[in-house]
Amino acid sequence: MKILVTGGLGFIGSHTVVQLQNSGYQVVIIDNLSNASLEVLEGIVSITGQPPIFEKLDLKSKVAVQTFFKTHQDIQGVIHFAASKAVGESVVNPLMYYENNVNTLVYVLQELTKLKVSNFIFSSSCTVYGQADSMPISETAPIKEAQSPYGNTKQIGEEIIKDTCQVYPNLQSIALRYFNPIGAHKSAKIGELPIGVPQNLIPYITQTAIGKRDQLSVFGNDYPTKDGTCVRDYIHVVDTAKAHVVALQRLLNNENQSNFEVFNIGTGQGSTVLEVIKTFEKVSNIKLNYNIVDRRPGDVVTAYADTSKANKILGWQAEYDLEDAILSAWNWQKTLKKD
Ligand code: UD1
Repeated sequence: MKILVTGGLGFIGSHTVVQLQNSGYQVVIIDNLSNASLEVLEGIVSITGQPPIFEKLDLKSKVAVQTFFKTHQDIQGVIHFAASKAVGESVVNPLMYYENNVNTLVYVLQELTKLKVSNFIFSSSCTVYGQADSMPISETAPIKEAQSPYGNTKQIGEEIIKDTCQVYPNLQSIALRYFNPIGAHKSAKIGELPIGVPQNLIPYITQTAIGKRDQLSVFGNDYPTKDGTCVRDYIHVVDTAKAHVVALQRLLNNENQSNFEVFNIGTGQGSTVLEVIKTFEKVSNIKLNYNIVDRRPGDVVTAYADTSKANKILGWQAEYDLEDAILSAWNWQKTLKKD
């Protein structure tokens, strides 16, 4: 069975391709290589032994998307990762984010609505909840005003899919709201490859430890949390990837209860930034150079998931813990060149 993975050479996309291939699916990857490299394809092949079909294609071209679907009429499901994801960059360049994340989604959906049946998994984010009023955050928590154009593209994306599903009952879709995916495949052949200075905590930590960055800045220690630093739900990227496979299977088996469903993908455990640093120091045996600086604008205080819906309905739960995830990120970092 043929599954399309857009953005399949990115961080979560590449790990999902591996899980799909391991589950027996034939994978077609589309990627425009704007934030990924062809070496990722080699990493995938060296893990699974199977070359996925790869097409370098930019989903911003409506004509290219139409042509792609005309020539691949046997695609049974689409997992849509292709998008930009840097919060700060989205504030500086909002139109780029609306074009990359919203236009492309519309073009893909336009083609899917022409098919008899289509199964669609959307990469969403816990960012849609903003600072939730209570913890853990369940899928019924209100959607708060987006803090950034990036966050807005995830909210709008979900709404576009929901509205489209109302008129096209043949479109079956699931949005997965990830908390903070981190880590790498245990083989250390694929992992996170931030371009330039990392914006996210884990790659910043591992790059500091390897000597590529001088010092980690911890953004604020005066939050109302147990040690004053922000709390997040860090989920292993392999667990995140597996959630896509079970969500897809739910759609392929017609087990979904409506044609637009949402699930939180997290561990259910919240960790502070200082706890993450301590865990890194423990698994790597390296003392990390960090200092406390001002809060980062736009950060929520605390976000961790109520995962009971995914546990019960998808039969999915995180298998790895924070130590596993951080150790895998560190093993991956050690395989990369310093500069
Ligand atoms: C953000 C987005 C999330 C998106 C993710 C990936 C929001 C609210 N969250 O997650 O939707 O999927 O990026 O791009 O928009 N930190 C430091 N020092 C650093 C880096 C981070 O102290 O150098 C702290 C942050 O203040 C935060 C925590 O580490 O408390 C995690 O930050 P980060 O990895 O950037 O992820 P989020 O901001 O939670």
